[in-house]
Amino acid sequence: MAIQKVSVVGCGLMGSGITQVCAAAGFPVTVREVDETRLGRGMDSIRKNLARAVDKGKLKAGDMESTLKRIKGTTSLADLADADLVIEAATEDPPVKKALFQELDERLPKHSLIASNTSSITIMELAAATRRPDRVLGLHFFNPVPVMKLVEVVRTITTSDEAYADARAFAQALGKDVVEAKDTTGFVVNRLLVPYMLDAVRCLEQGLASKEDIDRGMKLGCGYPMGPFELLDFVGLDTTLSIAEIMFGEFREARFAPPSLLRRMVLAGFLGRKSGRGFYEYS
Ligand code: CAA
Repeated sequence: MAIQKVSVVGCGLMGSGITQVCAAAGFPVTVREVDETRLGRGMDSIRKNLARAVDKGKLKAGDMESTLKRIKGTTSLADLADADLVIEAATEDPPVKKALFQELDERLPKHSLIASNTSSITIMELAAATRRPDRVLGLHFFNPVPVMKLVEVVRTITTSDEAYADARAFAQALGKDVVEAKDTTGFVVNRLLVPYMLDAVRCLEQGLASKEDIDRGMKLGCGYPMGPFELLDFVGLDTTLSIAEIMFGEFREARFAPPSLLRRMVLAGFLGRKSGRGFYEYS
C-alpha cells in the first residue's frame, strides 16, 4: 500500500467523517482545523459517532480507543508535512482551496498525493495551483461519511495512472466502493442528483403536489431513503444552491439553474437541518 500516513484538512461535517473512517481503517491521521474551537467540535463529533457504535454493540470499546489514538488534531499546516496523502475538506471556496493546495504543495514531500473532497469545484483548477498536477485528484465522499459506501475517485487530464491507482486502492482500504469519474463539474452523482433536487423544488413551485407527498412518492415509489426535500434539508439549501450555480455556470443548461424558491429560502436563512429550518422545521 503506497499510502501509509494520511492528513485531512478541515474537521467539519465531511472532514471529521473522513478522519473517522481513515482512523477506523487503521491509518494514522493528522487533522487540521483553523482554530481550536472548530477542531474540538469536529473531534467531539467523531467521539460521539464512535460511542454510539459502541452503545449499539457494533464496535468494541477497545477499538474506539485505538481509533481515537490514531487521530492527531492540529491547527498548523506544518504538522501535515509527513503525509503520503492529504485530503482537503475545507470550505467550498475556490480561492481558499487554491491557497491551501499551493501551501500544501510547498510543504509536502514530492511523492505525496493531494486530493480534494470538493463536490463541485474543478479539480484541475486546484491542480494548477501546484507543481505536481500529476499527483492531484478528487476523493469525493458522501454524507454521512461513516455510513455512505461510495467514494468518487476523480481524475483530471493530468492525473497520473499511478496516482489514480494509489488513491483508488486507498479508498477501497477504507471499505468504500469506488466509481471513477472525470473532472467535470458534479462528477457522476451530483450531475444526476442536483437536477433531481432542483426539479423537486420546481414541482413544488408549480403546485404539482405538497412537499410531503413528493417526498412520500419518491420514498415509497422508488425506495429512496429520503425524499428530495428531506435530502435538500440534509445536504443544506445553501450548499445545494452553490453547487447548482457552479454547475449552471459550467453547462448553461436550464436543468442546473437554481429555482427562485431555493434562492429565496437561502436569503431568508432557511438552510435546512443546520439552521433549524429548511423545507421542514427541526427542533
Ligand atoms: N454519522 C454517522 N452515522 C450516522 C449518521 C451520521 N451523521 N447518521 C446516521 N448514522 C448511522 C446510524 O448510527 C445508523 O447506524 P446503524 O445502522 O449502525 O445503527 C444508520 O446510520 C442509520 O441511521 P438511522 O437509523 O438513525 O436513520 P436512517 O435509517 O433514517 O438513516 C441516513 C439515516 C443514513 C442518513 C439515511 O436517511 C440516508 O441514507 N439518507 C440519504 C443520504 C444521502 O443521500 N447522502 C448523500 C447526500 S449528497 C452528498 O453527500 C454529496 C454532495 O456533494 C452534496
